[in-house]
Amino acid sequence: MSINKKKIAGEKAAEFIKDGMTVGLGTGSTAKYLVEKVGEMVKNGLKIQAVATSKATEDQAKELGISLVDVNDVECIDIAIDGVDEIDRDFNATKGGGGALFREKIVASLANKVIWIMDDSKLVESIGEFPLPVEILPYGYKVTFKRLEALGYNPVMRLKNDGLFVTDNGNYIADLHIGAPADVDDIKQKLDNTVGVLETGQFLKMCDCIVVGTCDGARIYDAVSIIAGC
Ligand code: 5RP
Repeated sequence: MSINKKKIAGEKAAEFIKDGMTVGLGTGSTAKYLVEKVGEMVKNGLKIQAVATSKATEDQAKELGISLVDVNDVECIDIAIDGVDEIDRDFNATKGGGGALFREKIVASLANKVIWIMDDSKLVESIGEFPLPVEILPYGYKVTFKRLEALGYNPVMRLKNDGLFVTDNGNYIADLHIGAPADVDDIKQKLDNTVGVLETGQFLKMCDCIVVGTCDGARIYDAVSIIAGC
């Protein structure tokens, strides 16, 4: 039987969740295992409230009996745990493969502790190979697309069921094929100045630690231990 590294990471990260916390629940196939585990913990008596980063996660959490709270009704989030598409040793990450990047960034920005969970394939020398998703406004999206093209970012509009992919916020996603190594600060500055781009999947140094599922179990790294290679 093959080892499920995403499950290993998701379940390990759930151990950080304690009674009384407000928890940000991520989106994607790794986060699904986390939410599953949290549901089990809630059934066994854990008392938390959660903020979901997508409709999909909200549905899963509801099904499992996890109490949900609207993001507008929390002052802060104690811990946010979410998946990631690519991450380097400086904790510069790309997220949004599932299209939930805008809500994921709002939730992470409100959290006192941020943990990214992943299998070990997500750890890379330099990010850029995974297409960088950017959420763009439907109004004038073709103009925005041309601006992204002019920046040399090789944008591709994300599709679903023969139409454009629509985010939970009613917007579109353009995936930027930039390549590694990406100059993340330069890209950030240019995208911040591109009218029509609402948010990006660049999550630069936003996490406190990462939980990585490997063949030998879960490894936890913070900014210091990952640089030291421990
Ligand atoms: C969704 C995300 C996901 O967390 C990211 O795409 C990782 O997904 P997975 O755990 O399925 O590999 O950012 O918007």
